[in-house]
Amino acid sequence: MTNISFLGTPLPLIQAPMASAQDARLAIAVGEAGALGSLPAAMLDAAGLERELRLLHASGRPYNVNFFVHTPPAPDAAREARWLRALAPYYAQFGLDPSPPAGDASRQPFSHEAAEVLEAFRPPVVSFHLGLPAPDLLARVKRMGSCVLSSATTVREALWLQAHGADAVIAQGLEAGGHRGHFLDKDPALQAGTATLLPQVVEALDIPVIAAGGITDAAGVRAAMAAGASAVQAGTVFLLCEEARTSAVHRAALQDPDAPTALTNLFSGGLARGIVNRVMREQGPVSEAAPPFPLATAVLSPLRAKAEAAGLGDFSPLWSGTNRRGCRTAPAADIVRTLACGFASG
Ligand SMILES: Cc1cc2nc3c(=O)[nH]c(=O)nc-3n(C[C@H](O)[C@H](O)[C@H](O)COP(=O)(O)O)c2cc1C
Repeated sequence: MTNISFLGTPLPLIQAPMASAQDARLAIAVGEAGALGSLPAAMLDAAGLERELRLLHASGRPYNVNFFVHTPPAPDAAREARWLRALAPYYAQFGLDPSPPAGDASRQPFSHEAAEVLEAFRPPVVSFHLGLPAPDLLARVKRMGSCVLSSATTVREALWLQAHGADAVIAQGLEAGGHRGHFLDKDPALQAGTATLLPQVVEALDIPVIAAGGITDAAGVRAAMAAGASAVQAGTVFLLCEEARTSAVHRAALQDPDAPTALTNLFSGGLARGIVNRVMREQGPVSEAAPPFPLATAVLSPLRAKAEAAGLGDFSPLWSGTNRRGCRTAPAADIVRTLACGFASG
């Protein structure tokens, strides 16, 4: 296979970074199959990041490292107590003591500490979710020679990313699983599906555009490339891969192709798409009681652990895009091969 894509990989295909569902193992398998594997770093400390980067670096393939770039909200005891009260009936049901959480924010924003770890590896691609880091941090990444990507959910966000230094923009349609990448247009009513968003972003930008959201087969890849995408980023379709770390309850939920998904803020405080489960049904997928991203996670964690121990995904984030048709339990290389057919000419 020859290098043909602007990503430095034979295929213009990115395995989406999926915090909580994978580590370097999936990214390496994807890289060996000719696509760009991604390492989600939002939930890694510096030591964990270094450990995973060593593995990726040793694979000898190009790879992407991904960070969230939110501004952590200030703690607010009254707000956190309100969230605890909303979930108190579940705590009682599980016999748990509803004491305030230890303050684990679960997802950390990109930092100078993380940049220092990156500098030893100079990753070929670095992607961001929720915008771009502050100019000094972004300049540090650029000095490493990394290609910088970030997600946009509207044309306005895509133009902002281009103007502020992104080398390519991921157009994230509403079908996408996991967290919305929005940072300017946070109302999902302003956001559109991939087939609508992608051509508008392609027309508006001078830099490459990567299509994301609901792409799980060769036909989806073909449609995205025909609409002007320079590459495709797919997440959900890799969740059942043997090399993924998707939990047992998450895998079980993903097997049902008809289970509905919804945008929810219950699991982190930020809007993200997942399969509808008990807590989403009973609290409503979006609750005003949930504290802002990423603070909602800590109060749900004890409930999640109890339920998962009983084999239930009632309190787990079951992240998934709207389209699960291509999901299957298989080596990641098989999924890459399936998607790669969409790039074949003729
Ligand atoms: C389980 C899961 C976790 C995700 N975590 C991240 C993440 O850590 N960082 C990120 O930039 N995007 C994350 N995303 C969003 C993806 O980058 C991408 O937008 C999405 O997977 C594309 O839609 P699809 O899932 O329909 O393929 C996640 C998606 C899923 C399904």
